[in-house]
Amino acid sequence: MSINIGIVGHGFMGHEHEAMLTKMDGINVVAIADIDPEQLSDVKPGIRRYSTAEELILDPDVDTVLIAANNNQHRNLTLRAAQAGKNVLCEKPVALSVKELDEMNEACRKHGVKFTVHQQRRYDPDFRTIKEIYDAGTLGKVYSVKSQLYGFNGNMHDWHVYLHEGGGMLYDWGVHLLDQMLWMIDGKVESVFASVRNVINREVDDYFQILLSFDNGITAEVELGTYYLSDKDHWFERHWFIAGNSGTAYVDGFDPKGQICRTAHLLENVSGKRTMTAAGPTRSFGPPPKGLLITEPLPQINTCHADFFENYKRAYRGEEPFIVQIPQTRRVLQLMEAARESAVKHASIPFGL
Ligand SMILES: NC(=O)c1ccc[n+]([C@@H]2O[C@H](COP(=O)([O-])OP(=O)(O)OC[C@H]3O[C@@H](n4cnc5c(N)ncnc54)[C@H](O)[C@@H]3O)[C@@H](O)[C@H]2O)c1
Repeated sequence: MSINIGIVGHGFMGHEHEAMLTKMDGINVVAIADIDPEQLSDVKPGIRRYSTAEELILDPDVDTVLIAANNNQHRNLTLRAAQAGKNVLCEKPVALSVKELDEMNEACRKHGVKFTVHQQRRYDPDFRTIKEIYDAGTLGKVYSVKSQLYGFNGNMHDWHVYLHEGGGMLYDWGVHLLDQMLWMIDGKVESVFASVRNVINREVDDYFQILLSFDNGITAEVELGTYYLSDKDHWFERHWFIAGNSGTAYVDGFDPKGQICRTAHLLENVSGKRTMTAAGPTRSFGPPPKGLLITEPLPQINTCHADFFENYKRAYRGEEPFIVQIPQTRRVLQLMEAARESAVKHASIPFGL
C-alpha cells in the first residue's frame, strides 16, 4: 500500500521532501502547493501543482498532508487538513505554543486522522552515537550531558528573523536539540534555567543556553549561538559531551568523531603531584597515572533522515508506533515556554515533567 503525500510549502524544506520522497518506495508525492508561483516552477513532472493549500487539501488523491510552510502557518493548515479528513505530517516546530498544539491535536483526534511531526533529527548520526553510549550504561552513573551548536557567521535568514512568522533559533534548532535530549534521557525534568537572547537580531532569539535538572541526577545543557565569530576553515561546530562516574565521551561534528574514555578503577584520592602549566602549577589537573584510562572508539551508527519516513510508512500501516508522538512534542513546547519564562525572570522554573 503506497501513501499519497501532498506537500504544502515548496521552499527549502519542501524541496528537500520532494527530492527524498520521490526516490522512496511506498510513498508517492502526488501534489505540491505554494502561494509563491516562483516556488512551483521546478516541481517535478507528474506532480500536481496548486497555488493554494486548500486545493491540495481537497485533492481526493492526497492522503497525507505534509506541512512544510512557515511556522506561523502550521496551526491553521493542520486544522484545515484534519477537518477535510487528511492525515497530517507537520514540520517542526509543530506549533508556536502548547495552546496551538492542543487545538491541532484535538482536531486530528476529532476527525480521526493520523498526526505526527517531522523531528527527523532523532536519526542524526551524532545524536544516535551519544544515545547509544547513554543507553549502553557503560559510563557509570551519568551526571552531565551537553549538546552544543555554534555558527560562526551570524546567519539568520529570511522569515526566521521575524517574530510573527515564528522565527528565532529556539523554534528553529532549539526544538530539535531539546527533543533529542528529552527523548534520550529517561527521567523527569525537575527544573529549567535558561538564558535566551537576541544578540544581533532585533525581534528573535539567536542564542540560548538551557539547563535541565533531571530527577535521575543528570544536568543537561543545550547551548546554541549563531554569532560565534571565528576565522576557522569551517562554519559551525557541533559538540556532544557526556560524563558518568566511570567514564566520559565526546562526539564532535554531524559526521561524528570522538572517543569514549573510561577508568580501570576509581581514584578518589591520590598523593598530590605537581604539574606545571602555562597558568602555573597544578596537582588536580595533571596527567592521569599510567594505565588508568581505557579509550574506546565510538560505536558505529548507520542512520539517516530517510529512516524517519520508513517509520512513517510502517506506523501508517499500523505495524509500529510513530517515532514522534504528539505528547513528546508537547513536552518540548512546554519546556521551550518554561525556558523563555526562566530567561525573562532570571530564575529557575519548576517543571516536573
Ligand atoms: N525538519 C527540519 O530539519 C527542517 C529544516 C528546515 C525547515 N524546517 C521547517 O520547514 C518549514 C518551512 O521552512 P523553510 O525553511 O522551508 O521555509 P521556506 O521559506 O524556504 O519555505 C516555506 C514555503 O512555504 C510557502 N508557504 C507559506 N505559507 C503557505 C501557505 N499557507 N500555503 C502554501 N504555501 C505556503 C512559502 O511561499 C515558501 O515557499 C518550517 O516549519 C521550518 O521550521 C524543518
